[in-house]
Amino acid sequence: MSIAEKFVSMEYGPAPEDSKEAVAWLGRHGHRLQHFIGGGWEAPSAGEYFDTVDPSNGEKLASVAQGSAADVDAAVTAARAASSGWRALTPHSRARYLYAIARLVQKHSRLLAVLETMDNGKPIRESRDIDIPLVARHFFHHAGWAQLLEQEFPEYVACGVVGQIIPWNFPLLMLAWKIAPALATGNTVVLKPAEFTPLTALVFAELCQEAGLPAGVVNIVTGDGSTGEALVKHPDVDKIAFTGSTEIGRAIRAATATSHRRLSLELGGKSPFIVFEDADLDSTVEGLVDGIWFNQGQVCCAGSRLLMQESIAEALIAKVQDRMSTLRIGAPLDKAIDIGAIVARVQLDRIRKLVDQGVADGATCWQPQVTLPSRGFYYPPTLLSNVHPTSIVAQQEIFGPVLAAMTFRTPAEAVELANNTVYGLAACVWSESINVALHVAAQLKAGVVWVNCTNLFDASCGFGGYRESGYGREGGREGLLEYMEPAWFKSAPALPAEKTVAPPEAELEDEPDASKMERQASTPEIDRTVKLYIGGKQARPDSGYYIEVRAADGRLLGEAPLGNRKDIRNAVEAARKAASWAKATAHNRAQVLYYSAENLSQRRDEIAHRLAAVVGEKQAAAEVDLSIERIFSYAAWADKFDGAVHNPPFRNVALAMNEAIGTVGVICPREAPLLGFLSVVMPALAVGNTVIAVPSEAYPLITSDLYQVFDTSDLPGGALNIVTGYTSQLLKTLAEHDDVDAIWCFGDETCAAAAKAMSVGNLKQVWTNEGRAIDWFNPKLAEGRWFLEHATQVKNIWVPYGE
Ligand code: NAI
Repeated sequence: MSIAEKFVSMEYGPAPEDSKEAVAWLGRHGHRLQHFIGGGWEAPSAGEYFDTVDPSNGEKLASVAQGSAADVDAAVTAARAASSGWRALTPHSRARYLYAIARLVQKHSRLLAVLETMDNGKPIRESRDIDIPLVARHFFHHAGWAQLLEQEFPEYVACGVVGQIIPWNFPLLMLAWKIAPALATGNTVVLKPAEFTPLTALVFAELCQEAGLPAGVVNIVTGDGSTGEALVKHPDVDKIAFTGSTEIGRAIRAATATSHRRLSLELGGKSPFIVFEDADLDSTVEGLVDGIWFNQGQVCCAGSRLLMQESIAEALIAKVQDRMSTLRIGAPLDKAIDIGAIVARVQLDRIRKLVDQGVADGATCWQPQVTLPSRGFYYPPTLLSNVHPTSIVAQQEIFGPVLAAMTFRTPAEAVELANNTVYGLAACVWSESINVALHVAAQLKAGVVWVNCTNLFDASCGFGGYRESGYGREGGREGLLEYMEPAWFKSAPALPAEKTVAPPEAELEDEPDASKMERQASTPEIDRTVKLYIGGKQARPDSGYYIEVRAADGRLLGEAPLGNRKDIRNAVEAARKAASWAKATAHNRAQVLYYSAENLSQRRDEIAHRLAAVVGEKQAAAEVDLSIERIFSYAAWADKFDGAVHNPPFRNVALAMNEAIGTVGVICPREAPLLGFLSVVMPALAVGNTVIAVPSEAYPLITSDLYQVFDTSDLPGGALNIVTGYTSQLLKTLAEHDDVDAIWCFGDETCAAAAKAMSVGNLKQVWTNEGRAIDWFNPKLAEGRWFLEHATQVKNIWVPYGE
């Protein structure tokens, strides 16, 4: 073609990136990659390898070691051996290592970008300009945190040995998100890359060698899901950090329930991309290109649900289709390509199947006229319109370049549609009205909200989900806390096992038989009738039964209602309805809390007197006095536990808001019936959660004292609900309830394990004392930020500025 003809057609010529260096790197390893364990290369103990292929043409790139349980064990042993030495380094020394790694990533950025593109199929434009620069940024930022660690987190220590499992969509970036904070906080690491994309993690291993990182601090074991499973089950791992599918996240939650290992999960998403009629439509379309066609849509926070205000839907769809027609799809090493290859055939098949199902559900499928390369795994950019909100393509993560479009009329309807998903990872809001955008952003159940922008990430801003998108954050201060624990808590002694064994619930729910009625009739008269406290009212238990409560000397003190499943369900419903508490101003919440401290102090002596029968006079007096102080503390915190404003290196501010989690089920500590109750319930209430609390089984009669205090303190009905009964039974209903967002459990070890195991259904957040004793009488341990951090989740709202 002549130059004149090219001027007319404006066709792109090929602009291939040179892959020589990457091919040479594979050649240096004989196209056969080993594990990186204890600072050196180790062959797989079972001698097995698997192939990793270039998805742009289906050709094999290399054989990679398949990790067995023995390989995982060797890596964990190496990480354990390196742990104390790494922790003993000064923060400055660790900062130097992280800084060196950041520098080396920059130095080798072209090799890393090219190899990433070859292994994953993503356009070189993205790996070169987005993935790898963000990797370097993450290590620089965390070199800074390593330096500041002792000043900023003086009471915290590293978890120890961390097992990290990452997916294939951003292979090196996910490695950086995991390894940088882990090392900065003094942990050592065993990381398992995804089986489709293990190569850049192994280049990274070489960079660790080049940086002189002590042997065993970073270990990389390659392999498939079975390797990941072996890492999750290894008994000497202190924390698991996982990014991947919700299904595997759930399996990992279940597999770690009986251990003390900490867990953070970054799972799937079905993020809404909301466009209001006053949005700048041309910018919106470009945002959409980044939102759903970036990385072939294989992005956990992809804006995969387009929600358009009805009045602009037609115009927007026309613009989107025009733009889709100009997207270039092809060999990802070509620098002028917008859409590369899908990571693997299995993923391509998954996308095809879901789109077919969407069409069968009634969606209209539109794809531009494009010629796909004849080899490799490609899928064209796809627009599904007329999608019903309940269709599989509106509900399930497709993880491909497929946009599902729907309409709405009002902002309220937009919020409802946006939140109509089990996920809650990210959301976009496009509107030229800052008031509308921020008002909507505040109501979205998502860990990140981008206003008039899309898919921006930075090491200084936490990233992570609400609901079934997982828990824990990566990046920012909150990301560091995932890799540390308060020093005192790590070494706290175990609580003795609790003795109460609840009878099977079926037995309790039988109609009262004559003999039981007789026994109850012969029970001595009680001084007060204690009831449950649900929706701001005293309620009789559904079972019609009561359990005897005895003093330390065996004397009968009274009877507490025996709550059951139905009572818990009523309490959850009441808590859900008490949304006004979350919306109340922080000042207002503080006032209510102060008022309850005032009311408790007025009844100090009588409450202490009754409590003394169970815990003795000295403890009872201390409990009441400290309880008043504790409520004061959380009243003080209520309007001070603010978020932050981040300055990522773009023209944006990110508003990091501490938001209430929602409805929290709390199993209160047994050992300090009043002080323990308030120590865990007050922080949850202070930040705007609604609570269903199960008081100490040792002295559930405290309920009547508490509801009298709260009834007279202007706490809205339903903000706090109290259900007494057998902890194990009530915990089960709470943990399995899909309208409960978090479970806090402060019992013995069995109780902690049960809370975790039973919460897998909707992946609610679980916080337990791991069966350890907490000294509720020591305010340094039993109140403050540690509790408030668990009572909130950070939502980052990104807002651009400038023309
Ligand atoms: P996956 O969740 O199976 O894989 C993620 C990582 O977990 C890989 O390293 C894998 O080897 C490992 N793994 C698999 N089974 C494991 C187990 N039992 N225990 C421990 N580790 C295990 O994701 P997959 O199969 O690659 O993709 C399936 C779907 O998951 C995608 O279509 C997409 O919808 C979603 N996904 C979401 C990601 C996200 O970032 N949220 C990332 C990757 C996939």
